[in-house]
Amino acid sequence: MIDAAPVFEYTISARYGGVTVLDQIQGSLRSGEIVSLVGLSGSGKTTLSMSLLQLLQYRGGTVSGSIRLHGRELFGLPAGELRNVRGKEIGYVPQSPTAALNPRLRIQTLLDETWGAHATGKPPAGFYEELLGSVSLPADAEFRRKYASSLSVGQGQRLLIALGILHKPAVLLADEPTSALDVITQSQILKLLSELARRSNMAMLFISHDLQAVASFSSRVEILHRGRVVETGAPAEIFRNPVHPFTQELVRSLPRGF
Ligand SMILES: Nc1ncnc2c1ncn2[C@@H]1O[C@H](COP(=O)(O)OP(=O)(O)OP(=O)(O)O)[C@@H](O)[C@H]1O
Ligand SMILES: [Mg+2]
Repeated sequence: MIDAAPVFEYTISARYGGVTVLDQIQGSLRSGEIVSLVGLSGSGKTTLSMSLLQLLQYRGGTVSGSIRLHGRELFGLPAGELRNVRGKEIGYVPQSPTAALNPRLRIQTLLDETWGAHATGKPPAGFYEELLGSVSLPADAEFRRKYASSLSVGQGQRLLIALGILHKPAVLLADEPTSALDVITQSQILKLLSELARRSNMAMLFISHDLQAVASFSSRVEILHRGRVVETGAPAEIFRNPVHPFTQELVRSLPRGF
C-alpha cells in the first residue's frame, strides 16, 4: 500500500570543484513506491546516491540542498547522527559485490558486522536464516562460513541486498545493483528488489542506466540528463509519449517492439 505523505524527499545540487553535476535534482518517494532514476553513464547517478548518503565529500564533491526523511531534515546533521541514519533508516545497495564486500571476511562476519553497526547483542533466533532466505540465498551454517571471495557475482549481489535491508530501512537506495550480471540473473534480482519493496513497504530509489530493465517494476521513472531531471512519469507514459528530446532518443534506441 502506498501512503499519501512522502517518506523521503530531496533537492540536491552537487559539484566537483567548479563543475556542477547535479542541478537542483528533486525527488519524493512514498512508502512502498519504487522510483527509477535513469541516466547515461556519467550523468551523475552515483553522485546522487553518494549525495543522499552525505558521503560525497569523500569523493571530493560538494553538495547543497535538503534531504528529508519522515519530514525530518537530515542535510548537514553532525556526522555522529548521520551514522545512525545511514544503513539503518536509509539502506544502500552498491553496484559491485567485488568492490563492496571484503573478500577476506566470512558471510557470517559480514552479517554480524552489519547487525552490530546499529544494534547490540545478538539478533533473535532465525533472523539471519530469514534474511538470507528472503534474497534466495542458502542460510545454513556451512554457507555462512564461506568467505565473500567464494561467492559468485550474483550471490554477492544478493548478499549486498540482504545487508542493505538488514535493518529494515524506510528507504533503500540502489545504485545499478545489477549492471554486473547476466540478463537472467539481472531480471531475478530486479524482481526480488521490487518484491522486497512491496512486501516491506519500503521506498526504493533505483538508479540505473537501463530504461528497459527498470520500467516494468517502477511506479515512476525519472530521466536524468545534463544534471537535471528532464522528464518524469509512469513507465507506460514515458514509452508511449516521451516529451523531452533526450527521452525520445532514449526510447528510440530500445529494441523495436518493446
Ligand atoms: N571525484 C570526482 N571528481 C571529479 N569529477 C567527478 C568525480 N566523480 C565523478 N565525477 C564526474 O561527475 C560526473 C558524474 O559521475 P557519476 O559517477 O556520478 O556518474 P554515473 O551516472 O554514476 O556514471 P556510471 O553510469 O558510469 O556509473 C562525470 O562526468 C564524472 O566524470
Ligand atoms: Mg555510477
